[in-house]
Formats: sequence, C-alpha cells, structure tokens
Amino acid sequence: MAQKIVAGNWKMNLQFEEGEALVNEILRGSRASDVAVMVFPTSLYVQSLSEQANGEITVGVQNFNANEKGAFTGEMSISQVESVGASIGLIGHSERRAIFHETDADLKLKVDTAVEKGFKFIFCCGEPLELREAGKEFNFVKTQLEASLFHLSADQLENGIIAYEPVWAIGTGKTASSQQAEEMHAEIRSWITERYSAQIADSVSILYGGSCNNKNAKELFACPNVDGGLIGGAALKAESFLEIINAF
Ligand code: PGA
Repeated sequence: MAQKIVAGNWKMNLQFEEGEALVNEILRGSRASDVAVMVFPTSLYVQSLSEQANGEITVGVQNFNANEKGAFTGEMSISQVESVGASIGLIGHSERRAIFHETDADLKLKVDTAVEKGFKFIFCCGEPLELREAGKEFNFVKTQLEASLFHLSADQLENGIIAYEPVWAIGTGKTASSQQAEEMHAEIRSWITERYSAQIADSVSILYGGSCNNKNAKELFACPNVDGGLIGGAALKAESFLEIINAF
C-alpha cells in the first residue's frame, strides 16, 4: 500500500516567525494517523524547522542542484541540505520548469543524484491547459515521466513519490475534478505496472496538486489512486492545512 502523504509547498512565502508558528500549529493540531505530513519551506528555514518538527513532520527542500559541490553560485547540493535536516526534495515543480527553464534532462540528473544519495524526492509532472484542451494530457505526462523518471530501476523508483499537478490548476483556484485526477493517477499507476510491476505501482505514492484545499481534499483523497496532496496556497494557514491532513 502506498503511503498517504499531505505535503505543503510554501514556495517563496512566509517570514521565519510565521513558518515557526505554522509548524507549531501543525504539530499541535494534526491527529495521530497514518498520514505522513511534510513541509517544504524556503531552504533557509530547514535547519530550524526540522529541529522544531523533531521527526513528526518531514521537512524538505523545494529545489536542489544535481552537482555535489563547486562553483554554482546560489545553489545547494543534496549533502548540504541533508546536513541541516532536509530528508526529501521536490523535483520538477512546474514553476521550476516554466520560470527557471529546467528541462527534462536537468530533472533526470536531479533524479539520478537523489537516487545515488538515497535522498527521497517528489517528482512533479502535469500538463499545461492547451494540451488538456487538445486532449493530449495523458501523452504529455507519460512523456515527462519517461524522460526523467522511468529510466530508474524498480528499487530506485520506490525511493520516489510522484505528484500530478496540472499546470492549469496550480494557484488558479481551478481544481481538477476528482474524476480528472483519478483518471490521470490511474493511468500513471498503469504505466508503472507496465514498466515495472503491479507491486511497485501499488507502493509508489501518487499525490494530486493544484488548488487542492480544505473544501475539495476529502473528495480528491477518496479516489482510489490519489494517495494525498501537494498543497500550495492552502498550506500557508494552519487551519486549512490541518483540515486537509485530517481529510483522509
Ligand atoms: P496550489 O499549488 O495549491 O497553490 O495550487 C500547488 C503547488 O504548486 O504545488
């Protein structure tokens, strides 16, 4: 069975004290359950927040560099972020792809470095609006996965988590319907079954992201192939994030 996960991607939001207060409230408010809770603050806060979270919440980074060290001004390696408490990183968020021009090849390198280091990751995929409107969303997402993820061996893939985040739903308030999410998640699982095995497909968590909030999480999480959510805006307030966690 895939692990249930609710992860908050804070993006470039929250001052340090706000992040601390939010982690405090999440720690106080989440019911003991089988849901793994994760937050992805700016890397600047990782050390402090991971100490505060004390293993009850997983603290990760929104990005990392595929190189081990060297002249890469402004970048951070996996060993650096691990040394301050990060145990997981996002790879290929649509904002990294679109704004920072990260290519499938760049993301493949990050996946490989993460696997080599035993660093967990959430690999993000999802189609832009014009491809959904053209009925090409399945092909597009499959191509993204084949280009950067499906070269891994079965053991290596098990280290990863997949987040399906349709670009048109991110930060727009326009959520995929539970039917649209379930359809894509079921396809992703069937591709893993074809390429690997049904057992691997069942063990990889597939999260939905894109305007998932406290109003729609219950319906989305009730879908058999939706193992949780990667939450942006609704993860910035304890009340909505806690409701999402408790929506399972
Ligand atoms: P959103 O962002 O929930 O604000 O749409 C999700 C994401 O970008 O991961």
